[in-house]
Amino acid sequence: MELDRYLAEKAGIVNRGLKDLLPKEDEYPQSLHRAMHYSLFAGGKRLRPILVLAACEAVGGKTDEALNAACAFECIHTYSLIHDDLPAIDNDDLRRGRPTCHKAWGEATAILAGDALLTSAFEIIAKTPTENTKALVRATFELARAAGSVGMIGGQTVDIESEGKEIPFPVLEYIHIHKTGELILASIRCGAILGGARDGQLDALTRYGQATGLAFQIADDILDVEGSTEEMGKAAGMDEQKGKATYPSLIGMDESKKRAAELVEKAVQSLSDFGVEAGPLRAIARFIVSRRK
Ligand code: IPE
Ligand code: IPE
Ligand code: MG
Ligand code: MG
Ligand code: MG
Repeated sequence: MELDRYLAEKAGIVNRGLKDLLPKEDEYPQSLHRAMHYSLFAGGKRLRPILVLAACEAVGGKTDEALNAACAFECIHTYSLIHDDLPAIDNDDLRRGRPTCHKAWGEATAILAGDALLTSAFEIIAKTPTENTKALVRATFELARAAGSVGMIGGQTVDIESEGKEIPFPVLEYIHIHKTGELILASIRCGAILGGARDGQLDALTRYGQATGLAFQIADDILDVEGSTEEMGKAAGMDEQKGKATYPSLIGMDESKKRAAELVEKAVQSLSDFGVEAGPLRAIARFIVSRRK
């Protein structure tokens, strides 16, 4: 299938970038670098870095100049997974088909591996080979904001505080948009900014990113109920066990699927002014809700 090939090709580029840009796993202190590599090279989908490259491509930019940003997004995403799995957060044992970082390397090393990946992201994006420092500063700002307290960490905070509680729908929407949506939106915007997007293009890609970002977390909630542990490489059924606030638990499975499908249509429609160069983004929007892992 066409999209499969696209995703595999881009994931290969991202994996090579990450290998080049991060310290080697045998570099001192090895315990730390091994734990970082262990979680980073465990077979994630690389969706966020692929979105950086695809958005850059959609506006006719040079993907070479977006590769560091792409790798930075994957570092932040992987750090967020390591910390999300910790006993104090979601307390999960399986991730990307292997024991979670803290299970394999201990809690202290997992916390530090996450810290190091978060910090490495900014080192990596800062050394982007580009003359366009204005775009680079803007992209770096968006990455930082999306990862921080008014972005992903804000969402994670409300997610944890909502466990075992009945929350109103707007709070659920806040959680999903922030813990997951913001980083996905920022990956698209950063790719577009580094690719030299015009204002109209950036607005359209922002609408695409908002819709796909929320759809991604709704699909994640649906998969937690309907997916298999083996295929996903993480334990299914944990949300109900932990009393997590999810779309299926709050509005039901049918309504959740309907909303996810509507968001995908909205995302695709927002790209109506783009031509074939946005083909991968259209296909990725559909993949986000049809995926099995
Ligand atoms: C899982 O993200 C965590 C969420 C934000 C829902 P992914 O489903 O993209 O995980 P990997 O990177 O493929 O492992
Ligand atoms: C995680 O949401 C979002 C992050 C910021 C990591 P989940 O807790 O639902 O992600 P999974 O299901 O553990 O991958
Ligand atoms: Mg979580
Ligand atoms: Mg989790
Ligand atoms: Mg989940």
